[in-house]
Amino acid sequence: MQSRNEYFHLRSAGTSVVIDLTALGFPAIVYWGEDLGELTEAQLEDLAIAGRPQRVSGGLDTPSRLTLVPLESAGWHNEPGLVGSRHGRDFSPAFVLTETHSDAPDGGPTTSVRLRSVDEHAQLDIQSTLTLDGAGLLHQQHTLTNLGDTDYEVQHLLATFPVPQSARELLDTTGRHLRERSPQRHGFTTGRHVRDSRRGRPGADSTLFLAAGTPGFGFERGLVHAVHLAWSGNQRVAAERTVASHALLQAGELLAPGELILGPGESYTTPDALGSWGDGLTAVSARFHDSVRARPSHPSTSRPVTLNTWEAVYFDHDLDRLTRLADAGARVGVERFVLDDGWFRGRRDDTAGLGDWFVDDDIWPRGLTPIVEHVAALGMQFGLWVEPEMVNADSELARAHPDWILQTGDHLPLEGRQQQVLDLSNGAVFDYLLERLDALLGAYDIAYLKWDHNRDLLEAGSTVTGKAAVHSNVLALYRLLDELKSRHPALEIESCASGGARVDLGILDHTDRIWTSDCIDPIERLTIQKYTNVVVPYELMGAHIGGPRSHSTGRRHELALRAGAALPGHFGIEWDISRLDDAELNELAAWVDAHKRVRELAHTGRAVYADLPDETADLRGVVSRDRDRALYAYTQVTSSTSYPPGPITFPGLDDDQVYGVSLASPTTPLDGAGQSSLAWTEHPVHLTGRSLRTVGIQAPVLFPEQLRLIDISAI
Ligand code: DGJ
Repeated sequence: MQSRNEYFHLRSAGTSVVIDLTALGFPAIVYWGEDLGELTEAQLEDLAIAGRPQRVSGGLDTPSRLTLVPLESAGWHNEPGLVGSRHGRDFSPAFVLTETHSDAPDGGPTTSVRLRSVDEHAQLDIQSTLTLDGAGLLHQQHTLTNLGDTDYEVQHLLATFPVPQSARELLDTTGRHLRERSPQRHGFTTGRHVRDSRRGRPGADSTLFLAAGTPGFGFERGLVHAVHLAWSGNQRVAAERTVASHALLQAGELLAPGELILGPGESYTTPDALGSWGDGLTAVSARFHDSVRARPSHPSTSRPVTLNTWEAVYFDHDLDRLTRLADAGARVGVERFVLDDGWFRGRRDDTAGLGDWFVDDDIWPRGLTPIVEHVAALGMQFGLWVEPEMVNADSELARAHPDWILQTGDHLPLEGRQQQVLDLSNGAVFDYLLERLDALLGAYDIAYLKWDHNRDLLEAGSTVTGKAAVHSNVLALYRLLDELKSRHPALEIESCASGGARVDLGILDHTDRIWTSDCIDPIERLTIQKYTNVVVPYELMGAHIGGPRSHSTGRRHELALRAGAALPGHFGIEWDISRLDDAELNELAAWVDAHKRVRELAHTGRAVYADLPDETADLRGVVSRDRDRALYAYTQVTSSTSYPPGPITFPGLDDDQVYGVSLASPTTPLDGAGQSSLAWTEHPVHLTGRSLRTVGIQAPVLFPEQLRLIDISAI
């Protein structure tokens, strides 16, 4: 509806957002956080007035306000929300709010507003949309339109979220191949903390979220606000604190020079920038998870237990060997068999073949039919690895179409994993890949594509336009994924990128899970999964059991740790289990069974993490929505100086509910030498959720790198 309000109050899922339309230059969010209850227009006005800053000595006569798009024209001396120009002119736009619309579904509180701001002189128009979804997640997008008759170059258009003054500590993630999403903390002091990603994909080192909270905030407590950008290309997230007491988080696309030039009448819409908040990171992640789970496209079937061939056979595509592997998979309860890299023309190792998406006749003289049919006869789905965006110089495709490669000037970019990247924004490339993938999906009964992307982009220019083309390639990728899914509606797609280098809610709008990391060492995975899980719910996170000796760290671990760490995720196996004896297969089958028993809980329930005072141990769990059932995994990550380790407390339960506590199978009894049994395992205890949260129970004494499952169920 058309509205004349001067303030908007969005409310949903315990969250309020108050928007002041009277701020100079652009509407401002004056508040984002805990629900303020119903407020009249007069109360909203008072709230906004109460928050207006004073003029100070040495400053501007009009004190600057933090608006949705902070700009110099309104006195903003820090990073502007919009940077762009017409060959240097119109570099400092000044907008006037011209239209507002709001939505209040079912006559309830307003949850969404659309605001139009225009600069008549610079001939620019921005439509801003702010929506609080059913999970209380704040979505912010801006569409910039060039109303002029000359080109306007956009350098960046960032979404801005204010955070409270109490936010004095920042948390983000960094990483590398085999160790994505390692947390790092910083003081949130005056100045700007910027995390740029210029790899053409978010990258292993990118931050999945940027959080600002009270000092020492953890998963269980501490007021914290966080942003995530749902975008699979170059991006910037930043936190800034100004001397004028503004504190903010920003997120938006990072554009190369000349990459985004709006011709007359053209528009650019920013990726969805998402803001979550809560008392502790578990509450922040709950909003992300609830929002993701509410999407119509969210997988609604049990996530099939997967056997991926990569760490089992690598490039050794031998039908007998793969058949034996499939047999062993079916024997332990696998539901989806994924044939990884190595099946297509010329692909005997990672130096050749990418681009030639035809089954290799030498290795597969009867095509993929024998393995596809064998897998189907065993009652499993068949999945196939592809890496469509890539090309090896040693391929028919690269020889035939060198101009299809992203490049600039007179040279090709430096290679990564001996490969280059194709320009999907070139219609001929798009059509070729669509035809090839569609043909494969038509020829074989393929339920699943593992869609890989194994190098960072460099100098990513299109030979068609001569310009930087990351933005257009991300959009073309989304289109290609959507087109394949519309042609093959049952198809599921995994986003893999050297492991977890393309993990974001943008790609997950077009795919069904991410490959969390190439590292499946369970100790490394504890951290990788914990911080991925802040944004991505477990059912979308691939988590596999590797062999006893990790291929990426060389460490050896018992099955209980390898399986227990993977248990809540989209579970799978990546190990040559065709060599296991009967007893070993039975043990593995017990874990597959355990996962099948817990997957509904893990894939619909709340993921919780304890802030243990002893950092040598890890306690995490999944709690059912009605809080009647929970399963926790307790891991002794390294040895502790405490012996026994003392009590552990359990987050996420219902304070007033009484629970029984037991060690859960298939973890084995505690087995340290020289120690007695644990009292609560000998004499079953019944404790309230409040006691479990505050008093806790004695943690089991474990060897370093051992994990035990603890079942907590209402009685
Ligand atoms: C990188 C992926 O992350 C691995 O799982 C595997 O699919 C290889 N690529 C294959 O080349």
